[in-house]
Amino acid sequence: MAQLDLNDKTAIIMSEIMTPDMVNFSGHIHGGHVMSLFDRVAYACAARYCSMNVVTVSVDQIIFKQPIFVNELLICLAKVNYVGSTSMEIGIKVVAENLTTGEKRHTNTCFFTMVAVNNDGKPCPVPKLELKNDIDRFRFKEAQARRLLQRQYKEAHFEEKTAIRQKNNL
Ligand SMILES: CC(C)(COP(=O)(O)OP(=O)(O)OC[C@H]1O[C@@H](n2cnc3c(N)ncnc32)[C@H](O)[C@@H]1OP(=O)(O)O)[C@@H](O)C(=O)NCCC(=O)NCCS
Repeated sequence: MAQLDLNDKTAIIMSEIMTPDMVNFSGHIHGGHVMSLFDRVAYACAARYCSMNVVTVSVDQIIFKQPIFVNELLICLAKVNYVGSTSMEIGIKVVAENLTTGEKRHTNTCFFTMVAVNNDGKPCPVPKLELKNDIDRFRFKEAQARRLLQRQYKEAHFEEKTAIRQKNNL
């Protein structure tokens, strides 16, 4: 059996069994429930990495590829992909395992940006991320690209949005 390296501060695995009280009107697991789980996973991964309190600042790409069902074990594999000055991007791969059949499905992948904060809620520097292999370097590069895209999107729409707000007294 592969050993989980408990000394690796950049990765965690958190799992939760899906129970009947979590279902929505379609009888599947409620999206809000799993999003709350992802946020807790991202919190645990980031806070453990930097040994500080962290807050969620943004969430990218929560895509529900497939529904999640009661009696599945939701396994969240979380990793620190990127570290800036005070922020960390946590990538979460989500696998649903049917406890009876053992079938595993990759249901989601999402990215949370968490910021380390002090007791006054102000951003604090976080440790630099050591990139140990090709996968680490690729994930870091991808996270940088997401960050750049976000910035470009914001800048591209800023002037038009400001003008419309002013015109409509918003
Ligand atoms: C997170 C928070 C402390 C950041 O404060 P701020 O004054 O915007 O601080 P900065 O502008 O210095 O940004 C801090 C970091 O967050 C990143 N950041 C800020 N806004 C971001 C956004 N929309 N998306 C991604 N990253 C963002 C910055 O890039 C920066 O990262 P870096 O230091 O690694 O370069 C503040 O926005 C906050 O308290 N937000 C509420 C958090 C919260 O309550 N979360 C739970 C929601 S229910």
